[in-house]
Amino acid sequence: MSNNLLQGKKGIIFGALDNKSIAWKTAVACHAQGAQLVLTNAPVALRLGEINQLAEAINAPVIGADVTNMEDLKKLLEDSMKHFDGGIDFILHSIGMSLNVRKNKHYTQLNYEWNQKTLDISSMSLHRVLRTAWDMDALNEWGSVVALTYIAAQRVFPDYNEMADAKALLESVTRSFGYHYGVRKKVRVNTISQSPTRTTAGSGVKGFDVFFDYADKMSPLGNATAEDCANYCAFMFSDLSKMITMQNLFHDGGFSYTGISEAIVKGISEP
Ligand SMILES: NC(=O)c1ccc[n+]([C@@H]2O[C@H](COP(=O)([O-])OP(=O)(O)OC[C@H]3O[C@@H](n4cnc5c(N)ncnc54)[C@H](O)[C@@H]3O)[C@@H](O)[C@H]2O)c1
Repeated sequence: MSNNLLQGKKGIIFGALDNKSIAWKTAVACHAQGAQLVLTNAPVALRLGEINQLAEAINAPVIGADVTNMEDLKKLLEDSMKHFDGGIDFILHSIGMSLNVRKNKHYTQLNYEWNQKTLDISSMSLHRVLRTAWDMDALNEWGSVVALTYIAAQRVFPDYNEMADAKALLESVTRSFGYHYGVRKKVRVNTISQSPTRTTAGSGVKGFDVFFDYADKMSPLGNATAEDCANYCAFMFSDLSKMITMQNLFHDGGFSYTGISEAIVKGISEP
């Protein structure tokens, strides 16, 4: 259903790897709401080629950029502004990668070089994107930037490993840069803390299926899907949410405020 919430708006979507990606669904939702888009991902992800199907479906160019490379980011924003013939209204940061998780290193035994890389890709990359936009004055007034996060930043989920720290840093950058960009240009910066979702990054977490089922049983509304998250992102890019900034917004069917649910009690008392 479209209400043309994003008619006339121009945005960049980072992180559409395949049709399960939250970024993929968000691109589809924003396009349906009338936005014009540029898609971007790391060159290695572009080589998989799936993003071209999305690009065709929503009539958006694909511009490669490694989010840890400032030259790539500058070129991405320059090319996007040329394509849009003007400034950018919104950006989705939908990027996460943990080297220690990928290489099965336990949290107590982190490899710190890999950890640096994880934090750069998953957290400081938001600072890099915002700083590039800031230096180039690329974002329009009342622009909106959203990054995706997970509740492991607030509560311990042992198998989430170093990504818990990465998400805590991501949320902190959101507040800190959100302050400065708000004062300077009324640009809003928020994180959306999404339910477990079956995607490539999500399924990389050890024991993901248990994680997923547990959250689903704990949440009064059940887990929020990638499509639900995409719609929330579209709302956050629209003018309807214009006074929301520097927030971590839970989008999890009520999971974050539920202590225990009847479904979980039943599962434990009647195994
Ligand atoms: N899936 C979940 O359960 C879940 C829950 C909460 C939050 N999130 C967050 O949502 C976001 C999107 O993940 P997803 O679940 O859609 O998985 P995904 O695997 O589809 O997306 C992750 C993306 O990050 C990109 N990426 C990795 N390194 C990069 C780099 N150096 N430069 C540019 N891009 C790079 C990948 O190419 C990929 O497109 C992540 O931040 C993730 O942590 C996911």
